[in-house]
Amino acid sequence: MHSRYRTYQRISDLPKLSGEEVVLRGWVADRTDKGRLQFLRFRDGSGFCQLVVFQPEVPEDVFMVAQTVTQESSVEVRGLVRRDERAPGGYEIQVHDLRILHRTQGYPIAPKEHGVEFLLEHRHLWLRSARQHAIMRVRAAVIRAICDFLDANGFVRIDAPILTANACEGTTTLFELDYFDLGKAYLSQSGQLYAEAAAMAHGRVYTLGPTFRAERSKTRRHLTEFWMVEPEAAFFELDDDMDLAEDLVEYVVQYVLRHCEQELRALGRDCSQLEKVKRPFYRISYTEAVEIVRRKGAKLHRKLPDGGEEIVDFPWGEDFGAPQEDAIMEEFEKPCIIHRYPAAVKAFYMKRDPENPDVVLAMDMLAPEGGGEIIGGSQREDDYGALLQRLREQGLPEDAFQWYLDLRRYGSVPHSGFGLGIERTVKWITGVQHIREVIPFPRMLYRIVP
Ligand code: 4AD
Ligand code: MG
Repeated sequence: MHSRYRTYQRISDLPKLSGEEVVLRGWVADRTDKGRLQFLRFRDGSGFCQLVVFQPEVPEDVFMVAQTVTQESSVEVRGLVRRDERAPGGYEIQVHDLRILHRTQGYPIAPKEHGVEFLLEHRHLWLRSARQHAIMRVRAAVIRAICDFLDANGFVRIDAPILTANACEGTTTLFELDYFDLGKAYLSQSGQLYAEAAAMAHGRVYTLGPTFRAERSKTRRHLTEFWMVEPEAAFFELDDDMDLAEDLVEYVVQYVLRHCEQELRALGRDCSQLEKVKRPFYRISYTEAVEIVRRKGAKLHRKLPDGGEEIVDFPWGEDFGAPQEDAIMEEFEKPCIIHRYPAAVKAFYMKRDPENPDVVLAMDMLAPEGGGEIIGGSQREDDYGALLQRLREQGLPEDAFQWYLDLRRYGSVPHSGFGLGIERTVKWITGVQHIREVIPFPRMLYRIVP
């Protein structure tokens, strides 16, 4: 980075500054009083390190500051950098001077345990904690790795609109709003339809941005606003799509292992399973997956019209829920791609398998270790007549889809793509239990603040 942006040194530079006198600015995360020794856990955004203030070595007023500084006060510190294996972060500062920039009173988040609802209420402050800091760093690395990989492989980034007239993933999960005199608009469920148009202009493209689902599900894997990367490629068939998904996920996981060692350690992540995430992954058909589900006894809980529930052996034709996905993934220590789902449970735009009209050329990738579905994709219906029929069957407004049908009117070609959920992926890689912790400000059924 250019030093003209950096008047102060940063904790991330400490390995290069061992034995030197430095000036750092940041915040006091915690303090431990050992009489003549004060240990301050210090953070400056780039990392955490320990400040050691030894009474005989500093002026009396500096020691007073160290003894009384409150959690989350902002400070400027001058001192000597020392390598110390035992210190968190591997380095500590032997303090010579310490100045308060802003004294904090009554910081709400104490270093002790808080309930998760309290922490979510204070998400704007919770982000400062070491654990949340590590998660956000991994998230940034995941997004960087995705863009690096796709850019290097000839995919052009295209940004899809967020306000749209089109339902992409079914009409039951749309956030609706009034759009001036033009009637109803929706928050985008997916950039895919726009990516398809752009793929006919650039061959290989991807969209990356927030997407929205008005899902009333309260699970550890669902957000109402989540980020998705959606590659789309002309002349790709289903097998190419699966190859691309496999290459991308392998690259992202190996990139994070290489670049986020410290963060993964801070999160207590056992990385032995992640190290195995190398090609080839597993590939099974939906029909084979159903056999596993039945063998494992992951039954289907089906709602009855009278409000009750019946529990049945998993029937061919139903979509998998979390219990089935988890049962399937007990079999695999690497990600598994499931392909050729029943047409009835998948979206209108997926192409029928020419060898079996009951299934579509769809594929989902499930991650091991409780990751669940991280990718959903397919080969797209490229035939005008077939697509129009699917739109009609699903009762979608033909007017709003005329532009999308144009892609099949003018130089239609086989094409495929997929969506990879950023938060699902970060949740899996970090080993965090709940998706709400892997996005800076989660939007869920019962949360819109802060
Ligand atoms: O399987 P989905 O619904 O597929 C699509 O949206 C396609 N249009 C993508 C495409 O082919 N271009 O969603 C894709 C992925 C899922 O596999 C999951 O990782 C994530 O998006 N996802 C969610 N993540 C968090 N919260 C939710 N409510 C999610 N819904 C989907
Ligand atoms: Mg899906």
